[in-house]
Amino acid sequence: MSFRTLPKVELHTHLEGCAPPDFIKGLAAEKKIDISKIFTADGGYAFRDFDHFLKVYEAACTTLQTPEDFRRLTMAVLEETAFHGVVYMETFVSPDFCGGGDLAAWRDYLAAMEDAAAEAEETLGITLKGIVTGIRHFGPEACKPAARCAAETYGDFIVGYGMAGGEMVGRPGDYSYSFDMAREAGMPLTCHAGEWGGAAMVAETLRDLKVARIGHGIGAISDPALIEEIAEKDIVLEVCPGSNVVLKAVKDWDSHPIAKLRDAGVKVTVSTDDPPFFHTTMTDEYEMLHRTFGWDEDDFKALNETAIAAAFCDDDTKARIAKRLE
Ligand code: HPA
Ligand code: ZN
Repeated sequence: MSFRTLPKVELHTHLEGCAPPDFIKGLAAEKKIDISKIFTADGGYAFRDFDHFLKVYEAACTTLQTPEDFRRLTMAVLEETAFHGVVYMETFVSPDFCGGGDLAAWRDYLAAMEDAAAEAEETLGITLKGIVTGIRHFGPEACKPAARCAAETYGDFIVGYGMAGGEMVGRPGDYSYSFDMAREAGMPLTCHAGEWGGAAMVAETLRDLKVARIGHGIGAISDPALIEEIAEKDIVLEVCPGSNVVLKAVKDWDSHPIAKLRDAGVKVTVSTDDPPFFHTTMTDEYEMLHRTFGWDEDDFKALNETAIAAAFCDDDTKARIAKRLE
């Protein structure tokens, strides 16, 4: 059977990273930007490892320059995501990559996304919410305007603040100014940690940034006391197994720690991260979890219930989506 039509909740995607290569190629042609070297001969994104992935990602983002680009991208992404049964999706959007630090431009991009989300809700039956996201490897200073943008736009559509990017720049505590700003605005928080940085990075992120969710978090597997703490505190992990396998954060699907974390009582959820980069979809993720760990429809239902409970949207939206999972 295919898991495609099962209703799904996806908490960890990056809007720019969901852009199909052909979409980015189209924008590059319109704007006469030469980024041909980021594509393989057969048309996919070409990267060797995580650092190179971040560079290719950044190059793709240079084509996103206007609110209309963001509106079209959002529609294209939602069409594809809805096809895979996703009824609720949260997406990181990183104004840092586009618009060159101009807060007014960022607001226009987010408004265009919100317009597209409203249209997709009507036509495709998928609900999208945005999480404004600082880029860690750009450094703590560069994350402050992203946090300011998040705090200023926090509302029905922008529902949280997050941080993504390379984990090896500074320590989590170096970014506390941005997270404090978002927290003081009342925003829910999430941060990528433990994709590369191991258990220490996850522990420091929880201690210093006081987030409710961790992006990836798989590095926690080496520290039983930390796993216990994560389970006890109801911290939710946004796990992206296909991404981890392709970027070689884990050796293969068999050695991915998601099942062990779940069995230890950790609240795990499943997402695609950047599907066209990692040649994955939510259907593929479920198929691989079924093949590798034997997870079936009941497991996926529980996974989606965990995800909607941990979503950053308002309670009415949660209740409405929860009904669709029944
Ligand atoms: N990790 C960190 N930063 C990212 C990723 C990721 O997998 N995808 C897009 N930005
Ligand atoms: Zn991510």
